[in-house]
Parts: sequence; structure tokens; C-alpha cells
Amino acid sequence: MFKLIIPVSLSLVLGYSQLFGQTGVPSPMTIDDKVNELISKMTLEEKVGQLNQYTGDRLATGPVTVNSTKYEDIKSGRVGSMLNVRGAKDTRDVQALAMQSRLKIPLLFGLDVVHGYRVTFPIPLAEAASWDIPAIEGAARTAAEEASAAGIHWTFAPMIDISRDPRWGRVMEGAGEDPYLGSVISSARVKGFQGKGLGTLDAIMACAKHFAAYGAALAGRDYNSVDMSERMLYEVYLPPFKAALDAGVATFMNAFNDLNGVPATGSSYLQRDILKGSWKFPGFIVSDWGSIKEMVPHGYAQDNREAARMAMLAGSDMDMESHSYLPHLTDLVRKGEVSVSLIDDAVRRILTKKFEMGLFDDPYRFSNEAREKKVLNSAKNKEAARKMAEKSIVLLKNERQILPLSKNTKKIAVIGPLGKSKEDMKGFWSVKWDNDDLVSLYEGLQKKVGSRSKIEYAKGCAIGDTSRAGFAEAIETAKRSDVVIMAVGETFDMSGEGNSRANINLPGVQEELIKAVQATGKPVVVLIMAGRPLIFNWTSDHVPAIMYTWWLGSEAGHAMANVLFGDYNPAGKLPMTFPRSEGQIPLFYSYKNTGRPPLNENDRKYRSIYLDLPNTPRYAFGYGLSYTQFALTNLELNKTSMNASDSILVSCTIKNTGKYAGEEVVQLYLQDMFASVTRPLKELKDFRKVMLQPGESKKLQFVVNKSKLAFYDQQMNWTAEPGEFNLMLGTRSDKISLERKFQLIN
Ligand code: NOJ
Repeated sequence: MFKLIIPVSLSLVLGYSQLFGQTGVPSPMTIDDKVNELISKMTLEEKVGQLNQYTGDRLATGPVTVNSTKYEDIKSGRVGSMLNVRGAKDTRDVQALAMQSRLKIPLLFGLDVVHGYRVTFPIPLAEAASWDIPAIEGAARTAAEEASAAGIHWTFAPMIDISRDPRWGRVMEGAGEDPYLGSVISSARVKGFQGKGLGTLDAIMACAKHFAAYGAALAGRDYNSVDMSERMLYEVYLPPFKAALDAGVATFMNAFNDLNGVPATGSSYLQRDILKGSWKFPGFIVSDWGSIKEMVPHGYAQDNREAARMAMLAGSDMDMESHSYLPHLTDLVRKGEVSVSLIDDAVRRILTKKFEMGLFDDPYRFSNEAREKKVLNSAKNKEAARKMAEKSIVLLKNERQILPLSKNTKKIAVIGPLGKSKEDMKGFWSVKWDNDDLVSLYEGLQKKVGSRSKIEYAKGCAIGDTSRAGFAEAIETAKRSDVVIMAVGETFDMSGEGNSRANINLPGVQEELIKAVQATGKPVVVLIMAGRPLIFNWTSDHVPAIMYTWWLGSEAGHAMANVLFGDYNPAGKLPMTFPRSEGQIPLFYSYKNTGRPPLNENDRKYRSIYLDLPNTPRYAFGYGLSYTQFALTNLELNKTSMNASDSILVSCTIKNTGKYAGEEVVQLYLQDMFASVTRPLKELKDFRKVMLQPGESKKLQFVVNKSKLAFYDQQMNWTAEPGEFNLMLGTRSDKISLERKFQLIN
């Protein structure tokens, strides 16, 4: 007969009514019960082991510490998680080591699945340019489906650091400069990765990173210090993290930077007060790679032992590759310098996730070679990546309607160092594969035009070249063609972690190559491929057609060809301001008026201007063209005053007035005209992306409520102050089509 055996430890911890409920019928153990039971069996060493994460041997995403005891440590219960082990077979093999440990606690396998796993999607900044939230969620979903089949439980994504400095190489990983757009995308990515919820076979844990303010690294130099006001932190840098939390993100990662003098990894303010305190985050926080021990060179901890103590006290639960917790935490507890309750809390948070992922039921449930074979690199996933790539392209200029190209174009010249590149198309933070299927621009074009047109290629120069030796061939190739498509930009590893640039021009002699080719008089289309906004003023001024393609992933070439020939009408909008010069950085659309704004272009004396440059950007946030045109009309507000518990219904009409079907992004900005702290001239508060056939109109509606009007007042209370607001609608931040004032009354 059925006989329930209750472990003594469990009955002591839980008591009769918790185990059996009021009715006397045994109630199933909750995850909390199971975690408590397990913790009660663990030695201090085993607890500390759960807080330790090592990198695998085949991949390195940071400075590796030689570690010959790694696999022995797993067997003896001294490791809670591994990163950089991938594939159903490898994860299974390493998990089998954990199954030799006394308590057989499964490992969590983490990896930077940032924009795709086997099929590479566009870099996150490019995806952000789509402003297509369901598509962005879908891209994360596909990545999770593939990664989960390959034994991965956890991605270190989304990276949701706001950044207003294109010199910083990691802008490619984020969603750009704006807290609202960044928050919506953050939430979409978390939902995409976590799918129907942890425990589902195709869901992986997401990780909101890097907490916090890493994107504000001084002078755009990676890992640099950050100094910012609490207001800036709360209004600009924290909202995407709050959005991730609200979307149920399983984990957070802290950051390399110090914030106002305290390394983020050792910051109780960030981790205990904000995240685990007022935000009540129930998951766990992993350190960034080596960021615990880096508190020593920061000059914040005297040695690795002290760093371990500080990180634990500050709320950092798991040590990624610092080798700080494992050697020191046990001793710190024994000597009374760290309380065991802090260790238990961190262990509890980590074990809870392992239970939620179903790993105690089957530690190998994600490591399934048959599923891996079926799911990875499927035609469906490639198509999803191609569609996302098309949506990510931003058309910056299209004079004389050079684009779309006619399908009858007979001779096409592809010129430039990136014309045949495959590897670069994937961008930084992509997973490397043998026999990777990557489509270059040249191949994409060839596939598109078949035998109809002749395509000739000339490299012209290499990316960082000073030599102009290839120019002559490029010029001759251009002269023989009907149209020239130039592929210029950065290499994929000129952005990403550790890859900051002080000059963000087109490297080497590429802009000279553009000049030389343009001088042939042939119609020129420049495609700029990069992981950040670049500066290319001559090209902007002289070349008739420019498309910004970022890094579009595995299917890049097909996506570019589809857009060039009009099989997809580009609709991307910049998620980051493009400056005219590095001297304008940080440059962003939501600036403040100052007391001395120039009233017009000639108003320059004692004004907030540069003597040698306009204040305006080269291309503004929210900017991007289409092959068709749109008209925004009929702004209506159902009332012109509201109180704080009320809302205003805003509507407008968007019409496709051109001859191609296309999508447009209607952007809603607000300005609080007078407030107890100065407010930006414009803040994005909502947007809609709509598809319209030629001649078609749609009525769009927006709701403005208190939450859209609120900000942090002088006492840092989140409040909306009565007074006048300006509501603006446009299809880019620097060109407002419709505006209307309204009042918030008490
Ligand atoms: C360091 C990076 O800052 C972080 O984003 C990444 O997840 C880890 N390395 C692991 O690769």
C-alpha cells in the first residue's frame, strides 16, 4: 500500500499542516519545500559550490584563468553552473559529472545566446531598428527553441543597457538610447526567451544585464567608470531593467563598471536595496565574468577574499569565473564575516530556478541530440532570420528614387571590402559553427538576379587599409556597370565587448573609395555595415542612396537583396542618434532646452551651441525612409484636460500616399512644459507600426494617462505634476507632423 516517507529534516522544517494541509490529505511539495529540504541536507561547502560558475574549455568569452580541477570540482559538488558548454552531447557529458556528486544537484548551463543560436539573427541594435516588437520577441523565441534543444538552460541576454555613446562597442548588443523603446524591447526579449515559462522544454532562462548603468561608461571606453545622478539612473538607465523584471526575467547579471564610486558587483544599493529590496526580485544575480575579483584593481577590495565578502554582502549570488567564492566563502562564514543566512538565501534562489527548470526531474531533459538535429538550422528558422533582417535595415537616403533597383538592371557592380564577406555578417556575440551557412551580399544578389543580370565584384580596399591600390580596378568595374552597390563599414569585431573606438568614421580609406567610385557618375548605393552608428558625412552629402544594414545575421545577403530590389520595402527607424562628429557625443534626441537655446540657426551669440558644428545630429532617433510616402493627419484628442486618474484618447490618421505597400512607425512624444525639475523637449511615450497598401489609410489610437506624464520630482517621488503638456506625433523625432497642448489638472 501507499506509504509516505517524510524525511525527518523536512517534517521539522515544514510541520504537519504544511505537508498535509488542513484535510489530512498529503499536499504535493511546493518548490519552496523541496528547496528547503535540499538545503537542510547540504554542507556549507556544497552550498558555496552552488554559487560557483566556471567556463567550459571550448569557448572563452573573457580572460580565462587556468583551472585544472574544474571537472573534479563538478564531481565533488563544488560547481553550480557552467557557461560556454554547448551542444546536447557536451552538456550531457558534463551534467553526468554533476550526477556523480553526493547530492546530484544538476548544473545550469549558461551561454551568450544574444541574437540567435545556430541561425544568427541581426544584432540586437539592428533588431531594435525594426521597432517591430512581435518580431523581436519571435527572434528571441527562435533562439530559445534552438538553444534549449542543445542543452542550454540559460542565456546571458537580453543586454538592456541604454547607451548614448556610439564609441562604446557594446551598443550593438542593446536597443539604443531610449528608455521607452528599450523597455518595450527588453520585455519582448525576456518573453521570447522564456516562452511559456520555465520548465517548458523550449524555454530558457533570460538574464537582464548589466545591472546597472554600464552603458554610460565614461568617454565610451568599455569597462570605464560611471558617474551619474540618481535621477538619470532611475529615469533613463533603470526602466528597461524594471521592464525585464515585470516580464518575469529569471536572472540578472551585475556589471563591470563602478557606479558613483562603488563597483556594481559590490553595490548593495543596486542589488539589495533596489533589485532584491524595493523591486522584490525573486531570482538570482550572477556576477559578470571576473567582476568580483576585479574589485581589487578597482581599488575597492584589498584582495580576492575581501572581494568575495563584499560581493556576497552586496547581494551577488553567483560568481562567474572570478574564482572568489569557492576558495573564500566557507572560511568567511566560519570566521563570522559572512552570515550563513546570506549564503542560504543565494543558494535558495539558484536551486529554485533549477527546480523550476525541471532539472531535478531529469537533469538531461534539454540535452536531446535527436531534438537538437531536428530544430537547429531549420528552414523555418532561417526564414525567420531573413525576415527579421529585412525589418532591421534602415534606408537613410534615396534621392532620385534610385531604389528600389529595377529587376531589369543588366550590369551590377558590387564594390567594397564587405561585398563578399560572410563571417562579418553574423556580428559580434554570435555562436561559431563549422560549416556555417552564411549569405554574403554578393551571394544574395546573385541568387536574386539569377542569369538576368551580370554581377561583377571588386574589393577596392580592405577595411582598415591605407592602400589605394585596389581603387583602379574598382573604378573600372563601376564604369562597366549600370548601378554600383558599395559594401563598406567595420569588421564585425570592431564593435562588441572591449571594442570601443575613439573615431567612429568609416575605417581606412573606405570613404575615399566611395568618392572615387561616385566620381564615375554611375548611380551609387552605399550599404553601411556596422555594429554602431558611424560618421560618414561626405557619403551622406554626396551619395544618392544609403542603407544602414548593421550586421544582419546568417541570412544577411538575401535580406539586403530583397530590400535593394523592392521585394521588401524598408521600414527600419534608427534606435540611436547618428552624430555628425565625435565632438557632439553624447548626443540623443531627448535633450533639455537649457536657459540659452539658439532661437534659430543664426542666433549664435551666448547660446548653447558649438562654434564649429550645428547641434543637430546627422540622422535623428526614429529616422528612416521607405520607398513609399506617408501622411499623418487628423490629430484628435477626446479632451484637452485630464486629471491624474483619467486619460486622454488620442487619434490620428496615417495614409500611404505613395505607390508601394509599406510600413510606417508613428511615434508619440510628450513634453512637460514646466515642472519642478527641468524636462526633456521630447520623450518617446508610445508608437505604432502599421502596414499600408498604396492609398490606404488607418486610424491609430493612443492612450495618454498619468504614467506617461510622470517623472521623478526633487524628492525622487514618481509623480505627474499638474500643468501643460505638449503632445507630438511624427515619423521621426526631429520632424513632428502634428502637435497639440493639453492640461493635467488636479
Ligand atoms: C562578459 C560580458 O560582459 C557578459 O555580457 C557576458 O555574458 C559574459 N562575459 C559571459 O560571456
